[in-house]
Amino acid sequence: MSQVHTPVLLKESTDYLVTKKDGVYFEGTLGFGGHTQEILNGLNKKGCVVSTDVDKSAFNFCREKFKDEQDEQRVKLYNFNFSLVDVIAKIESLEFFDGILADLGVSSFQLDNAAAGFSYSINSELDLRLDKSLRKTAADFINQESEEKIANVIFEFGEEKNSRKIAHHISESRKNKRIETTDELKKIISSVANPKYLTKTLSRVFQALRIYVNDELSALKLFLENSVPVLNKGGRLVVISYHSLEDRIVKEFFKYENLSCICSPDAPICTCGKVKRLKILTKKPITPSESEIKNNNRARSAKLRVAERI
Ligand SMILES: C[S@@+](CC[C@H](N)C(=O)[O-])C[C@H]1O[C@@H](n2cnc3c(N)ncnc32)[C@H](O)[C@@H]1O
Repeated sequence: MSQVHTPVLLKESTDYLVTKKDGVYFEGTLGFGGHTQEILNGLNKKGCVVSTDVDKSAFNFCREKFKDEQDEQRVKLYNFNFSLVDVIAKIESLEFFDGILADLGVSSFQLDNAAAGFSYSINSELDLRLDKSLRKTAADFINQESEEKIANVIFEFGEEKNSRKIAHHISESRKNKRIETTDELKKIISSVANPKYLTKTLSRVFQALRIYVNDELSALKLFLENSVPVLNKGGRLVVISYHSLEDRIVKEFFKYENLSCICSPDAPICTCGKVKRLKILTKKPITPSESEIKNNNRARSAKLRVAERI
C-alpha cells in the first residue's frame, strides 16, 4: 500500500490553507494522508492537524503512517463523517480551527481495490459504502427500491439521460435473481446503453449510486454549514470537488455566505439581518495544470474553491 493515492492540487490547496505556522488545521478527508502530510510540512512544532475519514481502512492506514506525529500530538485522527467538524472541535476543546480543508470523493485506493467495491472495472460485491457501518449497500438499494426511485437517483446524482430505461432493466433483471455484483450491474447497463458512451454511462450510474448510498451531498452541505462557526477569522475554507453536483453546492454556499444583504433590490432599507461570513478568494475555481493531469488522470475533473472567514 505504498502508492495508494496521488493527492490532487496538493500545493495549491495547502498554500491557500496554511496561513499560520503554529495553527490548528482540520482535514475532513484524510484518505491516505497526502494533504494531511503536506499541511504538517508547512507547520512548525506547535502546529497541529486534526483529520478524519469515514472509511475505516483509510483511518487505520493513517494511524500507522502518522504514528510518531500522533505521539507528539501534531496529528489527531478521527474515523468520523466530516459533517461532524463542529463536534470534533468540541472533543478537541477547540473554539476554532485556523483553516479547514476537504478533498471530496473517493481515493484511488478505494477505486482500484476490488474489496472496496467502488469501481465498475473490477468485479466485486456491489457495496459502494464508504462507511461500512451504514445499513444499506448499493445492492440493497437496487434490489429493494421502486423502479421510479432508482430512475430518480440515477438521473439526479448521475445526470444520466437514460435513467428510466436503465432503472426498468434493473427492475426486470432482479425478478429473476438478486443483483449482487458490480459485473451483474455492468451487464444490465451495457444491454441498454449506447456502446459509444458506455464508459460514461457506467461512470454516471456508479457515481449516482455511490452518492446516494453515502448521502454525500447532504454530508457536504452539513460540513460547509458546520465549518463556518468553527473557522477562525482570517482562516480559509478550502474545498476540492470532482463533479458538477459537488462543485455547485460549494459555489452556491460561498456565494450566499459572501453576501451581506439578501433583501429584494427594490427594498428601501435592508431588513434581512444577513451577515457576510465569508469572502471568496477564488472568483473562478483553480484547476490542475496540464502536467498534473498528465501524471494523474484522476485529477482532470478537480476544482478548487477557497473562501476566507471574516
Ligand atoms: C479524494 S480522497 C482524499 C485523499 C487525501 N486527501 C489524500 O491526499 O490521501 C477522499 C476521502 O474522503 C473520504 N470521505 C468521503 N466522504 C467523507 C465524509 N463525508 N466524511 C469523511 N470522509 C469522507 C473518503 O473515504 C476518501 O478516503
